[in-house]
Amino acid sequence: MALRYLTAGESHGPVLVGILDGLPAGIPLAERDLVPRMKRRMGGYGRGKRMTFEADRPQIVGGTWKGETTGAPLAVLIENRSNRQGRTTVRKTVPRPGHADLAGMLKYGFSDANPVIERASARETAMRVALGAAACRLLELAGARLAGHVIELGGISAAPCSEGAGHGTHDGSATSAARAADRLERARDASPVASADPAASKAIMARIDEAVARGETLGGRVELIVWGLPPGLGSYVQHDRRLDARLAAALAAIPSVKEVELGDALAAGRSSGHEAHDVIARAGDGLGRASNRAGGLEGGVTNGQPLVARLTLKPISTLRRPLPSVDLDTGRAVEGRYVRSDVTVVPAATVIAEAVAGIVLADALLEKFGADTLPELLAALASYRGRLPRWPKGRNR
Ligand SMILES: Cc1cc2nc3c(=O)[nH]c(=O)nc-3n(C[C@H](O)[C@H](O)[C@H](O)COP(=O)(O)O)c2cc1C
Repeated sequence: MALRYLTAGESHGPVLVGILDGLPAGIPLAERDLVPRMKRRMGGYGRGKRMTFEADRPQIVGGTWKGETTGAPLAVLIENRSNRQGRTTVRKTVPRPGHADLAGMLKYGFSDANPVIERASARETAMRVALGAAACRLLELAGARLAGHVIELGGISAAPCSEGAGHGTHDGSATSAARAADRLERARDASPVASADPAASKAIMARIDEAVARGETLGGRVELIVWGLPPGLGSYVQHDRRLDARLAAALAAIPSVKEVELGDALAAGRSSGHEAHDVIARAGDGLGRASNRAGGLEGGVTNGQPLVARLTLKPISTLRRPLPSVDLDTGRAVEGRYVRSDVTVVPAATVIAEAVAGIVLADALLEKFGADTLPELLAALASYRGRLPRWPKGRNR
């Protein structure tokens, strides 16, 4: 593993702490580069009250010098404004269905769910987004772009998006990556629910209003597209080097995510072999594909087509009309507790998916083109792209 990270801190503790280890030196990086993604995580129609008072201003406290990474671990702090740890004296003895409460209490031997709730909370994803923003910066400098958008929420689907469908040559140009990403991001950012389809956005907002009125919560699906990755990231030579598995693990580790689809996996499972794969053809003086059903990954390795992954999130578990549970002190059946909560977090998952996928992909990039400095990495990448097949022979760029 070339790039690794750890986070620490509780939902209502003083700070979240994160370390991203393995970034090369020379990446221009400042706090303002992390902020736009952090703001996206807090936004989205259907979020709860906490998001109105958290500021989520990340502080870089290690790993940069005069605005550039140094090769040392990147260390980030995020203060929690909602800091009441230590003042929470009320024991919570009724585990909430759908949360880590019961499993965590049994596992760690707590009779109070507070310590479980504090760490299992998705507040921690603020730090994944901050560290992931640094990884995404590295990918952008290497010519790749990532964009997540909502494709379904509360049962309402957005029109299919053609941006990840492929057609590119297998060494994907940085300019076409930027164009496709800009188009999708513009449409998504104009939507309060992070969907690139304006008609679906309106219908989803109405669905969220209706859910609020009924005391319900909503799940949905997010699509993540990554353009401009070189072929050859990840490997089939050992199970734990397969990029499909590494990506699926990182995406499934987002709280509420219950399914990860790579490429058109669900349709492929229902179709025949002739319908499921992407034929290899000449494109200009190189190679290309007319379709991208594999979602840019074959044999656990990037193949030069846009990478496409889709995630399904369950509706969040804290409901205004709580689900029944059992008080572990008394053994009596009780109504669950209501605490402040979001109605849907599907829009926020678009940026969390970008962040965690960004870390996995930056790791794979560093593994292949491993370098201590950004210029060394970019030179190795350019030299590799130059040796990809071209016809007539000798016309390599
Ligand atoms: C950005 C984000 C915010 C979340 N906010 C809430 C919330 O306010 N209330 C809630 O019940 N669950 C919320 N969740 C989901 C829980 O964190 C998650 O369901 C719980 O930790 C159990 O994990 P699991 O669903 O992966 O099994 C949120 C998830 C994400 C990604």
